[in-house]
Amino acid sequence: MKGTSPDVEVHSSQEPWWRRGVIYQIYPRSFQDSNGDGIGDIRGIIDRLDYLVWLGIDAVWISPIFFSPMADFGYDIADYRKIDPLFGTLTDFDQLIEAAHRRGIRILLDYVPNHSSDRHQWFLEARSSRDNPRRDFYIWRDAAPDGGPPNNWQSEFGGSAWELDAATGQYYYHAFLKEQPDLNWRNPEVRREMYDVLRFWLDRGVDGFRVDVMWHLIKDAEFRDNPQNPDWTEDMPPHKSVLSIYSCDQEEVHDVVSEMRAVLDEYGGDRLLIGEIYLPIARLVAYYGRDLRGAHLPFNFRLIEAQWDARHIERQIVEYEAALPEGGWPNWVLSNHDKPRIASRVGRDQARVAAMMLLTLRGTPTIYYGDEIGMNDAPIPPERVQDPFELRVPGRGFGRDPQRTPMQWDNTVNAGFSTGSPWLPLAPDKDSFNVEAERSDPHSMLSLYRRLIAFRRENDALNLGRYASVEADSCVLAYLRETENDRYLIALNLGPEPAVLETPGQCRIVISTEGKAEGEIVEKKLHLQGNEGVLAEMMS
Ligand code: NOJ
Repeated sequence: MKGTSPDVEVHSSQEPWWRRGVIYQIYPRSFQDSNGDGIGDIRGIIDRLDYLVWLGIDAVWISPIFFSPMADFGYDIADYRKIDPLFGTLTDFDQLIEAAHRRGIRILLDYVPNHSSDRHQWFLEARSSRDNPRRDFYIWRDAAPDGGPPNNWQSEFGGSAWELDAATGQYYYHAFLKEQPDLNWRNPEVRREMYDVLRFWLDRGVDGFRVDVMWHLIKDAEFRDNPQNPDWTEDMPPHKSVLSIYSCDQEEVHDVVSEMRAVLDEYGGDRLLIGEIYLPIARLVAYYGRDLRGAHLPFNFRLIEAQWDARHIERQIVEYEAALPEGGWPNWVLSNHDKPRIASRVGRDQARVAAMMLLTLRGTPTIYYGDEIGMNDAPIPPERVQDPFELRVPGRGFGRDPQRTPMQWDNTVNAGFSTGSPWLPLAPDKDSFNVEAERSDPHSMLSLYRRLIAFRRENDALNLGRYASVEADSCVLAYLRETENDRYLIALNLGPEPAVLETPGQCRIVISTEGKAEGEIVEKKLHLQGNEGVLAEMMS
């Protein structure tokens, strides 16, 4: 086996690293540009590793950096084993692994198995004739009797999910853009090839994968029409007008996931498999797999989708905790490159409370780059739109460029992201919200994140301990995290008005998002300011 291992202390309890760890998502186009072309790259990530060490995170998940025509900014891969020249070379990548591991940071790659690019050699061969040996690598169907698409399945980016290939007279299926044809995971040859792709990167030392749209991999064998969604309204994305019960989340997908997991396990027990899955809780937890032989972490997007309401979120937490299979480890995500940022969804004041929630709930947290400095979604003028979703369904608020703008590092040109002209505009408040400005301010969002991460790392009750709800009124969400030895109370005021929590005993304030006196003892009533979160150590 090639590749280095991360230079980290092995914890005596032998818990897998990712149970205690914090994951940080990098959208590579926007993190750090090292060569002045306006697009972030691998060398840029290497240059910023010391920042990530300082922040205290354990692993980085990098959105796709593979060879791609960039129709969907790297989620359309034309060669799974090649780094796109925009991002650098394989040598740069090897250096990234080495430099990250030397600092104790693990590297997770984005594996995009559901679809390739239409420029992938396999697809070029598949579409060249009906009897090409690669034809069955993709999903081909004859037209419906009226000559139209074979069924009513919808592309997530709008319109039919079927594209007619005039030369061979059949339709191929694409759950996303027509430039992203779906691979046929019922074909064992596809599985073999794609598992070898995993091995290629594992051999280079990567520590795991985030698997793109894991719940899409297998489709109904009979290609039945999806039923109409009776709850669909005009403000929802067009593809939600049907319920994807036949195009997604088929039982056989779990065989594929467990096979992927088995490939990771060939490399020892600590390579991590994360699945991107947007499903209701009951369906989501099935992705832990039979006997936990599936994904280690099926991404839990409850906090992204939740109404920001204390009782609603508490129900989500309790339902999720109750639904987890025995031994299944939870995880929480606040933002990602597909959804509006937390600060834009709930406001910057409340985003501090959200940070405390993310880093004190039971389960592995994933931080989206820039959330730690309170980045907002940035306005994108129409002539600067890049995202294919916005270009296809314009003006409806589905575009993803606003949450993908360049990282704000300092007060220099382009916030220190690039000396060239950035591929997306920078947010207008970059001079106040950036790493340099916030680093030295003890009350900044960045300082709050850093403290919370450090505190979480040092305290078993917070990273591994049990979760228990605490009764609270109206706007307050309160819970305990506890081990045999320690108990912490987390009290989060999700509203702008002051509130009071009856605490389950005497406690001592450890961290307040609003700077309440540290060390202050609270006897019975904890007074919270509006938008305040408090982490307190229980004394009795
Ligand atoms: C999910 C990814 O997160 C998103 O950015 C992408 O457009 C689709 N999958 C298609 O790969």
